[in-house]
Amino acid sequence: MTKPVILTGDRPTGKLHLGHYVGSLKNRVLLQNEGKYDMFIFLADQQALTDHAKESEIIRESVGNVALDYLSAGIDPAKSTIFIQSQIPELAELTMYYMNLVSLARLERNPTVKTEIAQKGFGSSIPTGFLVYPISQSADITAFKANYVPVGNDQKPMIEQTREIVRSFNHTYKTDVLVEPEGIFPKNEAAGRLPGLDGNAKMSKSLGNGIYLSDDADTVRKKVMSMYTDPNHVRVEDPGQVEGNMVFHYLDIFGREEDQADIAAMKEHYQRGGLGDVKTKRYLLDILERELAPIRKRRLEYAKDMGEVFHMLEKGSEVAREVAGQTLSEVKAAMGINYF
Ligand code: TRP
Repeated sequence: MTKPVILTGDRPTGKLHLGHYVGSLKNRVLLQNEGKYDMFIFLADQQALTDHAKESEIIRESVGNVALDYLSAGIDPAKSTIFIQSQIPELAELTMYYMNLVSLARLERNPTVKTEIAQKGFGSSIPTGFLVYPISQSADITAFKANYVPVGNDQKPMIEQTREIVRSFNHTYKTDVLVEPEGIFPKNEAAGRLPGLDGNAKMSKSLGNGIYLSDDADTVRKKVMSMYTDPNHVRVEDPGQVEGNMVFHYLDIFGREEDQADIAAMKEHYQRGGLGDVKTKRYLLDILERELAPIRKRRLEYAKDMGEVFHMLEKGSEVAREVAGQTLSEVKAAMGINYF
């Protein structure tokens, strides 16, 4: 029996932060360790280039950084195939064939792409590659015959687009080579989107409000000490607000079962008055460090030998190429363009 396939990837445009960790990395490690799936995890450098064509050095550097983040968070190359998108030319070839099955109007309707176009201020100069990236993403997913694709809610349109392409391809060429994937989306809002340290709805590099898996202990301490709490909680004796207070919000997300009684007591004390922000922050810092310290330690170890990290990516890419190549042959056969 072959195992169901899980595939997911990230655009390498920077280092990964706590939002990535709670939103996806942690879950990937759990799925990987269940041993029930064939896992593929990849660095979507070609997709990153669709809006960073002139900053390819950022992409190159981020490939190394995100690979380190993966390894230190517990993604294990002995259990998961980790690869780099650009090293699998079969994906670009599949994209060519799928492009003929998707209209320009359909691409322009993709809500995530629409939002991104507005955010990035492309105006009327949208790079063609950018508009087409959902098709390339469909190639990523279908090349590995992925059954499940764990992604954020913003990726729903990409999964839908992929399902349409699969149906269209299989119908057009009277075949069943392509597999319709299902998205796996975050179960609750909290895990889906970690707010920034400043209380902004999203932790993001551009807002400078994040804690990175690569931050050293001193940086994490300074960041936690600067977190947004309750601006009206001026003196320790003042009653404080728990809602909208990032320290308590993070405690709700990162606290474990055994911390729940302490957290409930602290909330009560804070609301009553008499509990200072420095105390709540020190407590949160311990909770975060419990998670971050082992990751940081592993990261420093792996970072000593980047040659080895890239060697791991090279081996993963070889495995991935085999699989994608097999699907591509089946696709070409279905289309009747297997001439020789
Ligand atoms: N678009 C995804 C993101 O921005 C990254 C990605 C590219 C991806 N190809 C994929 C995710 C295939 C899942 C499957 O997060």
